[in-house]
Amino acid sequence: MSDPTRGTVTGGTPGLHIGVDYYPEHWPESRWPRDAELMAGMGVDFARMGEFAWHRFEPRAGNYDFTWMDLAIETLAAHGIRTVLGTPSAAPPAWLIRKHPEILPLDSQGRRTGFGGRHHDCQSNPVYRRYIRRLVTAMARHYRDNPHVVGWQIDNELGNSHDDLCFCRSCVHTFQGWLAEKYGSVEALNEAWGTAFWSQTYNSFAEIDAPRHTVAGKNPSQELDWKRFCSDLIVDFQRLQADILRRECPRHFITHNLMSFAEKVNYYDLARDLDFVSHDQYPSGFYLSGIDPARSAAQLDVVRSFASRPFWIMEQQAGISGWGVMGRAPEPGQLALWATQAVAHGADAVCFFRWRTCTVGTEQYWHGILPHDGEPGSRYAELAAWARAIKPQLAELAGSMPRVQVAIVYDYDQYWALSIQPQNPALRYVDELIYWYRLFYTQNITVDFIPEGRALDGYSLVIAPLQYLMRPEQEQRYRNYVRGGGHLILGYRAGVKDDQNRVRAEAPLPGVLLGELLGLRIRDYDCLQDAAVSLRAAADADNHADPAGTGTIWADWIELRGARPLLCYDGYNDDGPAVTVHDYGAGRACYFGTRPDQQTLARLLGPLLAELGLNPDPAAVLEVIERATATARWRFRLNHSAAPQDGLPPYGYDITRLDP
Ligand code: GLA
Ligand code: ZN
Repeated sequence: MSDPTRGTVTGGTPGLHIGVDYYPEHWPESRWPRDAELMAGMGVDFARMGEFAWHRFEPRAGNYDFTWMDLAIETLAAHGIRTVLGTPSAAPPAWLIRKHPEILPLDSQGRRTGFGGRHHDCQSNPVYRRYIRRLVTAMARHYRDNPHVVGWQIDNELGNSHDDLCFCRSCVHTFQGWLAEKYGSVEALNEAWGTAFWSQTYNSFAEIDAPRHTVAGKNPSQELDWKRFCSDLIVDFQRLQADILRRECPRHFITHNLMSFAEKVNYYDLARDLDFVSHDQYPSGFYLSGIDPARSAAQLDVVRSFASRPFWIMEQQAGISGWGVMGRAPEPGQLALWATQAVAHGADAVCFFRWRTCTVGTEQYWHGILPHDGEPGSRYAELAAWARAIKPQLAELAGSMPRVQVAIVYDYDQYWALSIQPQNPALRYVDELIYWYRLFYTQNITVDFIPEGRALDGYSLVIAPLQYLMRPEQEQRYRNYVRGGGHLILGYRAGVKDDQNRVRAEAPLPGVLLGELLGLRIRDYDCLQDAAVSLRAAADADNHADPAGTGTIWADWIELRGARPLLCYDGYNDDGPAVTVHDYGAGRACYFGTRPDQQTLARLLGPLLAELGLNPDPAAVLEVIERATATARWRFRLNHSAAPQDGLPPYGYDITRLDP
């Protein structure tokens, strides 16, 4: 990993910072030179190509044709533009499906999906895998020594496009093998899944099915294992290709384009087989309820966190988004601002989706830098100016990271378990994370996301929301962290379940160890479905503010056993404690038995953030974030508003180099 030509240390290849997603197969060859010239004119260093072009690479089984891509690569290279190649496994062609219809996935109701979209693939299917292995090997051998090719993107947004992964015989068989390996005996599985309930006991692994559509209910332990299995299957599917590319193209980097908080695959796992991760960032996707810079920032921070290093943006929004319907047009300056936000949070390269707006297919209204007619317009001008200005800075700051003192625990097991049983229909795991994230974002405190199991000691404050599944090792980790001087925040539904999604029953919530750490126990609780409770500052609280707000989602009925109340219910549950703090060892552990409104949260924790030296700026109007190396530091200021703020024009930004 230290080969400098692979550039893994800086999250990519030095010198490559501005890219475009280009689809030469959508346009006549005669147009390519003009595209290359225009790209060069806006400072483009690289293009990602090929990730959906399986049929062009292999029009018939085993007949490979790389000549068209060779020409496209050459045409771009003549203008100094290098190529990142996508492996096209996201779009198996019609001839392959015709020949092997079992490649099409089966949904949870046993319906076979059709050809005509993308990702119509069963990822465990051995025949499909054989075709991929052959094609990727042929591509890798063909491009290994092409001086203009720098790296690979495997597939495209793995886990996207699948509501359910696939419930076919091959997948169920693979699932059974996965379970046999995990549990060793079917008796152990029966115990772990609690199959005594509703007579679900199995006599052998061969009897076990995927959790497909049922008449009534499903087994939550089976569902959780299925989600874990599907994630492992996707990781394995990527590895199949990564192994080939590593072997055949040792000088090329390997990456994949993630989708921030998507839940299909554990990205911490997926990142392990990559040199660096990439991400697709669409701040005003038409499917969103509006632009939310905090959420965009969280998406970037989580991507940086997957491998704890800088990343690439492989698709950055370049215009109106849309398939059948469209989102709003970005305001002048907003595209550049969003691209800068990506850099500010750790991107070493930004590649825009897409170069030119397509005239055919599903994504005719997903606007690229160039409009349909191919003539440069306002988006080209804006991004060309942006690229010119930021390139020298990108060259310098590549490889740098923010210095972070706050971590939010983000773990897929919690995500999955809570999507299986959300407790309150309004409770969404990622929304809960963003609720906490917003506390820091609005005060310009930078945050990492960390999986359970990662070391905590580097952080002065750790927020662990919804620690619903609790493993003994994790309880110990939290305890040791606080004992050693750390500040920890836990909240409702902590410690409810074990690793197998069974309720832990050895003690009242949150369990023996966490109870001791938090200085409390939960006597009972209330799910605030469509309800809210009033909150007030606890009389003896040492916080100087005086919050009186509301709590939603959940209400724990807390019995103090050493902890002090910070917030109490008001006119509910005998005005008992709702939020508590406990001095423990050299540190402190807070517990949130409800979700205070965002303002109350900020007022309540303001003193703690200041005490920890996190420099909160509650009056901030700009987003401010830094990246640093041992020798330099860059400060980004971003104005997400339509009005001028603090010397920045609407949607303006600036970047300042500071002393380390
Ligand atoms: C995703 C995909 C792209 C394209 C865009 C726009 O991010 O990776 O191929 O489909 O969305 O829809
Ligand atoms: Zn399948």
